[in-house]
Amino acid sequence: MKLSIFGTGYVGLVTGACFADVGHEVLCIDVDAGRIAMLKEGRVPIFEPGLREMVVRNAEAGRLKFSTDAPAGVRFADLIFIAVGTPPQHNGSADLSHVLTVAETIGEHIDGYKIVVGKSTVPVGTADRVEAVIAAAIARRGATHAFDVCSNPEFLKEGSAIEDFTKPARIIIGSEKEAVRKKLQECYAPYNRNHDKLISMDVRSAELTKYAANAMLATKISFMNEMANIAERLGADIEEVRQGIGSDPRIGYQFIYPGCGYGGSCFPKDVRALAHTAEEAGFRAELMEAVERVNNAQKGVLFRKLEQAFDGDLKDRTIALWGLAFKPNTDDMRDAPSRTLMEALWEAGASVRAFDPEAVTEARRHYGERLDLSLASGHLEAAAGADALVICTEWKQFRVVDFAWLKANLKSPVIVDGRNLYEPEDVRRHGLLYYAVGRGDSVRRNGAMAEPEARREVA
Ligand code: UDX
Repeated sequence: MKLSIFGTGYVGLVTGACFADVGHEVLCIDVDAGRIAMLKEGRVPIFEPGLREMVVRNAEAGRLKFSTDAPAGVRFADLIFIAVGTPPQHNGSADLSHVLTVAETIGEHIDGYKIVVGKSTVPVGTADRVEAVIAAAIARRGATHAFDVCSNPEFLKEGSAIEDFTKPARIIIGSEKEAVRKKLQECYAPYNRNHDKLISMDVRSAELTKYAANAMLATKISFMNEMANIAERLGADIEEVRQGIGSDPRIGYQFIYPGCGYGGSCFPKDVRALAHTAEEAGFRAELMEAVERVNNAQKGVLFRKLEQAFDGDLKDRTIALWGLAFKPNTDDMRDAPSRTLMEALWEAGASVRAFDPEAVTEARRHYGERLDLSLASGHLEAAAGADALVICTEWKQFRVVDFAWLKANLKSPVIVDGRNLYEPEDVRRHGLLYYAVGRGDSVRRNGAMAEPEARREVA
């Protein structure tokens, strides 16, 4: 089949590469000429395991092409995917201008029947708006062309995007038309083997499914972070509690890891956008508001633990930070907890010496050449001679560390772990103070019970 894909961000590029990989002819369109030039040279602007190889392989086979020529993209295929960005606006709502611009272009250049597939995460009702914009553009030309708009939200995760796309848990198709569903079924057939993962529903339900999925996962995380904060104050260990509740199949083990807050391009933006859409529809989504509030507070937890360790005086300290990306296997720092921490440390007069296996360039892009941020080329180099160590991202190489080395090389024996990577007892045995998330026992044994912190928060 011939497919056009508008947008070469995470979703667009992965979708294009994966569809080309099973033999579809794919044309990817982007307004960003620099990005398209890079892709044509086989360079992939994002870090995603396996993606570069897949892009190069299919480009060389002539099945995956890149262009800035939007009208050509409209004419190229009968199936047109919209996978452009929907960044958040100040009020939390999603900015639909890119989506609607693509719709306009489709209406201006449509030359026969097309199925327009919404892949971007968009507020409920957007497919209807896209349809109206296309219809108006066609009418302005005095032309008549048939087309359908459907919703096909994407659930891939950064870091395992190809795996998620090629082995999907479900393929959601939002359309009332049997012919549209059939066409998409055909398109996805290579990735829909063994058992049928296709779930058909109306357009609005499909659009809401995407938000509901992300909101549910974000809620699980905020719930666990809240439990962690409670456990810490009660002298209980959230890691024990996690296993205790995860063993109930109704709860499950996934997405119940406490930490320093969720980040990335989806959860923060989608939780806010869902609350905003609900409000516009006359309903106050109080749970969504709380999920976001809990998460924002959680992003401040590491800083508070550092303050606790240094009696509130972080001025002129150098803090080693392991992990800048919002999660492992990505270079993405959007809404990353590391940023909240670094900004708070700078505010308090401390410097940061950070290491991340992939996100160093991203960090430079965000923070330029700040004097109070230095970027180390290895995690041990970042830690050597620092006042304390904080872990923000659970990259694999941080899991096994030489605590004796850390004890000898950190100026103060303080480790603040935002991902609960270590057994508190192992760390303490080496004479280090270990501040993890929700591990009440470690708080108690560090000699600083959580009460003063709790009082501070209330005040
Ligand atoms: C998410 C959804 O998982 C995906 O289905 C959707 O399409 C896009 O949003 P992504 O943002 O790539 O994907 O990352 P994910 O692995 O879901 O993690 C999101 C954040 O939650 C990270 O900051 C991660 O550290 C945090 N997290 C995740 C936790 O704090 N605890 C957990 O148990 C799981």
